[in-house]
Amino acid sequence: MGLHTIRDEGGANRLMGEERLTPAARAARLEVLKHAAQPVVTPSLLSCDFARVAEELEALKRAGTVAVHLDVMDGHFVPNLTFGAPLIKHWRPWTDFPFDTHLMMSDPARYLDDFVGAGCDVITFHIEAVPDPVPLLRRIRAAGCQAGLSLNPPTPVSAVVPFLDELDVVLVMSVMPGFGGQTFEPSVLEKVRALRAARPELRISIDGGINPTTVAEAVAAGVTQLVAGSAVFRTDGNYAAALAELVQGARRGSE
Ligand code: DX5
Ligand code: ZN
Repeated sequence: MGLHTIRDEGGANRLMGEERLTPAARAARLEVLKHAAQPVVTPSLLSCDFARVAEELEALKRAGTVAVHLDVMDGHFVPNLTFGAPLIKHWRPWTDFPFDTHLMMSDPARYLDDFVGAGCDVITFHIEAVPDPVPLLRRIRAAGCQAGLSLNPPTPVSAVVPFLDELDVVLVMSVMPGFGGQTFEPSVLEKVRALRAARPELRISIDGGINPTTVAEAVAAGVTQLVAGSAVFRTDGNYAAALAELVQGARRGSE
C-alpha cells in the first residue's frame, strides 16, 4: 500500500492502522519473525529514500524481506539525528513488517511509551546509556514487545551477560553507531562467540558494515540476525539481488 492508496482510501486504511497497533497485531508480527528462515536479514531503513518510505517498504516486501530495522538517533548518544516515534507511527499502517527498533538514545526510558504506542515490536537500547537495564527491559516485555540490549564495539561482552535472562536479542554493534556505510570491525565477533557459547538459543543480531563478505564471518561466529543498510539499498534498486547475495554469504558462513 503506497502513499497514494492511503490518501484515496483514508477511512479504511486508518482503521487498518489502528488494528496494527493492537497487542494481537503485535503478537502476530512477532510470530512472523520467530518463523523466518535463519539467519534473518533485517534491512535498515537508514539507507532508504526517506522521501519514498511507503514505496521502499513495498519494494522490500517484493524482495522477500520479513522485518525492518529502524535506527533512532538522538544527536546526543550518537552524533547524528534520524527520526522518532511520530514518524514510526505514521509508517505503521503501511506495512506488516515487524519494526526492529534500535534506540541510539541517551534516555530511552523517557520515550519508551511513545515507541510502544507507535507500533514498534522489538525495542533495543544501549547498555552504555542504561547501565542498570533490567527495569526498562521488563517494561518493554510487559508492553508485549521483545526487548534487546546493544553494545558498542569497545564495550565488553561482560556488560550484557548478566541480563541475558531478561532479553530476547543482543545487538552487537560492528561499527560505532551513528552512520551507515562504515567498515565492519571483525574483532567484535569474539563477543558473538562468547554470547553463543553462553546461550545456544539466543538471538544475536549484528549491525554495521554487513555485506556479502562480512556476513559469512558473522554467521560463522553465531549471528542469527543481520542488519544491513547500504548493502540492501543499492543504487540499482535491485533489493532482491542484494538480499540474495547476503543470504548466499550467510550460507557460506553456516557451512
Ligand atoms: C549504524 C546503524 C546501522 C546502520 C547500518 O549506526 O545502527 O543500523 O544503518 O548501516 P550499514 O549496513 O550501511 O553499515
Ligand atoms: Zn541499527
